[in-house]
Amino acid sequence: MSKRKIIFDTDPGIDDAVALLTLLNYDDFEVLGITSVAGNKGISHTTDNASKLIRYAQKDIKVYRGAYSSYERVKEGLEAQGRDGGNVHGIDGLGGVGLPVDPNNISPISAIDFILDSVKTYPGEIEIISVGPMTNLALAIDRDEKTMRNVKKVWSMGGGVFRGNVTPVAEFNYWFDTLAVEKVYSLGISVDIVMVGLDATHQCIFDANDLTFIRLAGGEKGSLIYAMVQDYLQAYWSYNKYIGIVIHDLLPVLMAIDPTVCTRLVHSNLRIVHQGLTKGQCIVDLADSWKLEKNVYVAMDMDVRKCKELFMEVCFGKEVKETYCLVFPAL
Ligand code: BDR
Ligand code: CA
Repeated sequence: MSKRKIIFDTDPGIDDAVALLTLLNYDDFEVLGITSVAGNKGISHTTDNASKLIRYAQKDIKVYRGAYSSYERVKEGLEAQGRDGGNVHGIDGLGGVGLPVDPNNISPISAIDFILDSVKTYPGEIEIISVGPMTNLALAIDRDEKTMRNVKKVWSMGGGVFRGNVTPVAEFNYWFDTLAVEKVYSLGISVDIVMVGLDATHQCIFDANDLTFIRLAGGEKGSLIYAMVQDYLQAYWSYNKYIGIVIHDLLPVLMAIDPTVCTRLVHSNLRIVHQGLTKGQCIVDLADSWKLEKNVYVAMDMDVRKCKELFMEVCFGKEVKETYCLVFPAL
């Protein structure tokens, strides 16, 4: 059977990095390419970070450089705005772990060209896992909407129904580029879009014990991830008083691998606020009051234990997962 064809659209980002290292280890995925986008850091950093991770994982996959700023700014030819995820992801976006870049795995082809070419080559087969601002996808839709209607599925980390993180009501990726979100969801009637937002991701907190387990049992990769997440851990303590982290971008990857990690998926209509105090807020019509066409599947509840076991198995192997189950027996 042929493997599922995946494009990973990302702004690494510590949680992006953990998601990518997991994705690259899943045998049934053929990762066609990684497209970078500005978000957690500027485009040079996020592109380099993707290159570092591919090099580390020793994969023959290319990074395609994407949008340097939000949809509106790119369209108007304005410079990047300099807003990013601050120090949540450390000085370089990868917790300062010092992995080397491989200039040879950065393609001269742009992310938009790569996405469109891939969908033309494999119409109806490409799944895009989008874990940064949706700018690249929106620009690809602008360029060739007909082709983008042939994307098989979008797995999106972003948004939230009942909570925000960058403001009380807005999640970072969607807040960063609300116009792109609107554009992408305008395809949601014909292309399945699964939103794995903050309602889902905040259920799955990797606590201090999980992180220590990863360091002790996860070999070299576990030690790398442990080192990488230290700034992130500090940020979660400062902002949320969690002794642990939410690895947001990992959740759509796990769900793409095994959709049953999500225990409540709601088909609904999503709209987003573009301006003012509530900029970036998603309005998801769970009760179907508007009677509008449904353009989103929203992950509302996750089986946290299943998520963690799946992560341990895919990222580190079956034995590590079995050890995890021995050390932390399911209640
Ligand atoms: C999202 O924002 C970024 O900081 C993370 O990488 C994740 O994609 C969470 O709101
Ligand atoms: Ca991200």
